[in-house]
Amino acid sequence: MTKPIYVLNGPNLNLLGTREPEIYGHDTLADIESRLRKKAGERGLEFRQTNSEGELVDWVQEASREASCLILNAGAYTHTSIALHDALRACTAPLIEVHLSNPAAREAFRQTNYVASAAMASIAGLGPHGYEVALEAAIRMKA
Ligand code: DQA
Repeated sequence: MTKPIYVLNGPNLNLLGTREPEIYGHDTLADIESRLRKKAGERGLEFRQTNSEGELVDWVQEASREASCLILNAGAYTHTSIALHDALRACTAPLIEVHLSNPAAREAFRQTNYVASAAMASIAGLGPHGYEVALEAAIRMKA
C-alpha cells in the first residue's frame, strides 16, 4: 500500500491568517490544509501542526517509518533546532522544505538553516502556493 505524505508545521503556524499577514498572507492553516486535501485526492495525507520542538522531532521520526515523503515548514525551529536537524538527517523519507516567506531575503537570524541541508528540495517565498508545489512533487515521487 502507498504510504501517506506527511505535511508537518512548526511553531506559530497555527496563527496563520492573523499573524503578520503582510508577510505570511491571509490564508489560515486550515485553508491550506483543505486545498492540499483536495489536491491529494485519494492519496493519503497526514497534516499536522505543533508548537513543541520535541513533538516535531517525534513526528519526524514517525514520518521516517510511515511516510512516502515529508513536507516540512519548521517555522522558527528551522533557524534554531539541532535536534530537528539530527532527526531529519536520520529520516529515510525524502524531505521537501517549505516556507511561506523567503527567509533568505529577511533578517540575519533567519540565515541560519538547520533544515535545508537535510532536504531534497526547498520551496520558499511562494506563500501558501508553495505547499501545493511541494505536494505535487511529492505525489509524482514513487512511494
Ligand atoms: C517561516 C519562516 C520562518 O523564518 C519563521 O520563523 C516562520 C515562518 C515561513 O513559512 O515563512 O515561523 O517558516
